[in-house]
Amino acid sequence: MTLLELDPDELLSTTRSVRLRLDLSRPVERHLIEECLDLAQQAPSGGNQQTWAFVVVTNPEKRRALGELYKQGWETYLKEITARREAATSAMPSRDVLRIYRSAQYLADHMGEVPVLVVPCIAGRTEQAPIEEQASQWGSILPAVWSFMLAARARGLGTCWTTLHLLHEREAAETLGIPYDQVMQAAMIPLAHALGEEFHPGPRKPLNTIVHWDTW
Ligand SMILES: Cc1cc2nc3c(=O)[nH]c(=O)nc-3n(C[C@H](O)[C@H](O)[C@H](O)COP(=O)(O)O)c2cc1C
Repeated sequence: MTLLELDPDELLSTTRSVRLRLDLSRPVERHLIEECLDLAQQAPSGGNQQTWAFVVVTNPEKRRALGELYKQGWETYLKEITARREAATSAMPSRDVLRIYRSAQYLADHMGEVPVLVVPCIAGRTEQAPIEEQASQWGSILPAVWSFMLAARARGLGTCWTTLHLLHEREAAETLGIPYDQVMQAAMIPLAHALGEEFHPGPRKPLNTIVHWDTW
């Protein structure tokens, strides 16, 4: 196992959403995927239930089908946010926003070509559940997914958290044989070797705008 030379703080601050720098032409070795999944399993889960599951998709037809669902989700989302922005202001989106749109459009155009798509799942559906149950359910899969992404970054792989295929979750469940009534999909993580090793911390708000000491 070869890991990049990153200390823990560098790993945490440079695990970016990788879209334009996913190597679409190089397969990802199975042992690397399994190492990342082993580490993901060390994440916490409510009541230590570990009712998570990961569908690792390498089959080209299934990837193409998921890519198509993702693209439909992206187009719906893009229409909605464009309409919302135009209603609120006539100003052009900022350069930062345009940069993310371009990168997201590229991923939407190529999702089905990414060598591996990982769909993390959690047992039980929360549509009708009270808030503490929802929090426990989602909180029992999200740390494992982030651990998976950190482990991938440490191995020179790129990932991006995506959710837009969930606009068509039922069709994705049919494609992958996931029992939709019992299991929720939490995300779809494209996984590929990253083109280049260097990534930088992303822009974030100053701490004093998001942290409340003792009182909101
Ligand atoms: C819950 C969640 C859903 C997201 N969904 C998408 C998505 O569907 N498509 C996409 O391209 N990026 C998606 N992202 C990635 C965000 O756009 C990204 O994290 C954000 O722009 C910050 O960039 P960074 O991760 O490189 O710091 C998602 C991230 C999260 C946490």
